[in-house]
Amino acid sequence: MALLEIQNVSRRFGDFTAVDQVSIAIEAGEFFTLLGPSGCGKTTLLRMIAGFDLPDDGRILLNGEDLADRPPEQRPVRTVFQSYALFPHMSVEGNIAFPLQMAKTPAAEVPAKVQAALEDVRLIGFGKRYPHELSGGQKQRVAIGRALVTHPAVLLLDEPLAALDAKLREEMQIELINLQKEVGITFVYVTHDQTEALALSHRIAVMNKGRVEQLDQPAKIYSFPTSRFVADFIGKCNLLEGPVTASGNGVVTIDAEGLGPVRVASSAAVTGGKSGAIALRPEKIRVATSTSAVGATIAEPDRRPEAKPDGRSDTESNNHFRGTVTDHLYLGDVTVYIVSTPQGCKLETLLANSGAGRTKFFEVGDAVEMSWSVDAGHFIS
Ligand SMILES: Nc1ncnc2c1ncn2[C@@H]1O[C@H](COP(=O)(O)OP(=O)(O)OP(=O)(O)O)[C@@H](O)[C@H]1O
Ligand SMILES: [Mg+2]
Repeated sequence: MALLEIQNVSRRFGDFTAVDQVSIAIEAGEFFTLLGPSGCGKTTLLRMIAGFDLPDDGRILLNGEDLADRPPEQRPVRTVFQSYALFPHMSVEGNIAFPLQMAKTPAAEVPAKVQAALEDVRLIGFGKRYPHELSGGQKQRVAIGRALVTHPAVLLLDEPLAALDAKLREEMQIELINLQKEVGITFVYVTHDQTEALALSHRIAVMNKGRVEQLDQPAKIYSFPTSRFVADFIGKCNLLEGPVTASGNGVVTIDAEGLGPVRVASSAAVTGGKSGAIALRPEKIRVATSTSAVGATIAEPDRRPEAKPDGRSDTESNNHFRGTVTDHLYLGDVTVYIVSTPQGCKLETLLANSGAGRTKFFEVGDAVEMSWSVDAGHFIS
C-alpha cells in the first residue's frame, strides 16, 4: 500500500476546475514532484494534502486512512513555503522549537530535537541568530528544519527554492537530495522548473490544466514523453508533425512538415494517414559540415556513427537532412544551433563545447547535414 494516496481528487472554484480528477499514489520514502506551468493546480493539490483546503470530489488517504476529517494540525504533514514564513521576532532555535511546543513536547526533550534539526539542515552554530541575520538559503533551511523537527510522515515543499539565485538554488538542490536520503521522510515537492524536477525526483507527475499528463521516473519523462505537452514542457524538444505514411516492424514513418519522411522506432500500431508527431531532443541530432554529397565531416568526435549490434548499418537506420544554420546561441558548456531546411522546417540542435577553447562549430549561413537514428526520437500519436 502506498503511503499517500490521492484518489480521483477534484477542486472547483465556481465553474473553474483547478484540480481535475487527479489520482496519484506516493510511496514511503519517495521524493515525489508535481511539475507543471503556473496555474496548473499544483499548490491547490498541495493545500488539500496539508488540509488547508478540501477536495470537492475524491479522497486523500495516508497509510490507508481518509484524512477528510482531520484538520491540518492533526495531519502528520508539514509544509515549506517559498516565502519561508519564519517568525521574525524569534531566533532560529525559537522558530524550530515552535512546532514542538505546539505539539506539547516535554520541555526537556526540546533542545536535543532542535539541535538534531539544526544538524539536518547544516545550521549548527546559527541557533541564536534572528531571521534578518540570515541569507535566503539559510532562511529556507530554517523553514525546512522547522518542518522536519516533528518528524512528519510527509513533507510538502511548495517552490521552496524559487526565490534563490541560480547558484544557491543548485547548492540547495544537492542539499535537499542528501537531506531527504538522510531523514527518509516522504517529500512532495512542487515546482514549475523542469530541470529542478528532473534533478531531484524519484518520480514526477507532470500536470497541465488540473490534470496529470504523465507520471513516471525523470529519465522516462525526458526520453519518452507520452504527449506533445510533456515533450514541449520538459526541456527543449523538436516536435516533428505530419501524417503517418507507414508503420510496421517496429518503425513508424511520418511525412514531417518541412522535412519529409522521418523514421522512428515505435511499437505503436498506427493507421496510415493518421497524424502523429516525433519528439526529438536537440542533443540527439548529429550535425556535420556539408562539404558535398559525400565526405561530410562529423562535427563532434563523440557522435561518430556507430555500428549497430543488430547489424543494421548506420546509413539504414539514420534520418538524413540538409539545412542551413540560421541562428546560434552560445551557452557556455553547449551551443544551440538552429538549422533550417529548404522547405522551412527549423530544428534546434545542440553541440557540447567540450574541446579546449571550443565555442563554435558553425557560423550562420553554413550548410550542414543533420542525422539521427530511428531510435533517437520518440513517437507520439
Ligand atoms: N481560492 C481560489 N479561488 C479561485 N480560484 C483559485 C483559488 N485558488 C486557486 N485558484 C485558481 O486555480 C488555478 C490553480 O492555482 P494554483 O495556485 O494551484 O496553481 P499553481 O500550479 O500552484 O501555479 P503557480 O506555479 O503559479 O504557483 C489558478 O488558475 C488559480 O487562479
Ligand atoms: Mg503554486
